[in-house]
Amino acid sequence: MTGGSRGFPSDVRVAWAPRTDGMPRRDAAADLLGGLLPGAVVVRRCARCGSTAHGRPLVVGGRHVVSVSYTDRWVVAAVAPSSSASTIGVDAEDDDGRIDLARVLPAPSDLHAWTRVEATLKADGRGLALDPAAVTVEEVPGGFLSQVERTVYHGWDAPAPPGVVASLVLRQA
Ligand SMILES: CC(C)(COP(=O)(O)OP(=O)(O)OC[C@H]1O[C@@H](n2cnc3c(N)ncnc32)[C@H](O)[C@@H]1OP(=O)(O)O)[C@@H](O)C(=O)NCCC(=O)NCCS
Repeated sequence: MTGGSRGFPSDVRVAWAPRTDGMPRRDAAADLLGGLLPGAVVVRRCARCGSTAHGRPLVVGGRHVVSVSYTDRWVVAAVAPSSSASTIGVDAEDDDGRIDLARVLPAPSDLHAWTRVEATLKADGRGLALDPAAVTVEEVPGGFLSQVERTVYHGWDAPAPPGVVASLVLRQA
């Protein structure tokens, strides 16, 4: 993986909203995506089985790429124009020690190591159907580069609410 210093891209938008008690999480995501992309229709499609009940979120019409993630109390959505990113992944986790990092990652790690990997798996579109060990991550000035097979992604640790850790990954168009 090679790459120089890169700041957070100006055409990528990341929005957070607190989850309301009793509100289905997808409704919370729909509200957030509706604010970021007014009028857009977002569907899901599973790369594995073709189901539209689960899987990667896709914007009908293809002019933007989107990703969403949930913690117990927050929903986050990331959006980029397809002209600058062919795929995007965002992952957020509560920093409460509930994830057994030693079980999911090969080397001693912190929670950002996991959100970087999971954001990459979401940008890839296969999610956890792919072994997290297939993702390599290298820190670079301003962010990180991650790689799955021959595909390289640009990544950043995203600002997040207190007690939450998040990373964003995209593949440049
Ligand atoms: C994607 C995945 C890594 C998310 O894990 P998580 O930390 O539990 O969940 P998060 O809150 O961060 O993200 C959930 C969102 O990820 C998105 N997502 C789900 N599958 C995805 C995929 N394959 N690629 C990219 N994004 C995906 C969805 O938008 C989902 O929210 P939604 O259900 O409201 O649409 C994990 O659920 C996964 O790998 N799922 C797919 C497993 C699979 O392939 N199963 C086969 C079914 S046939």
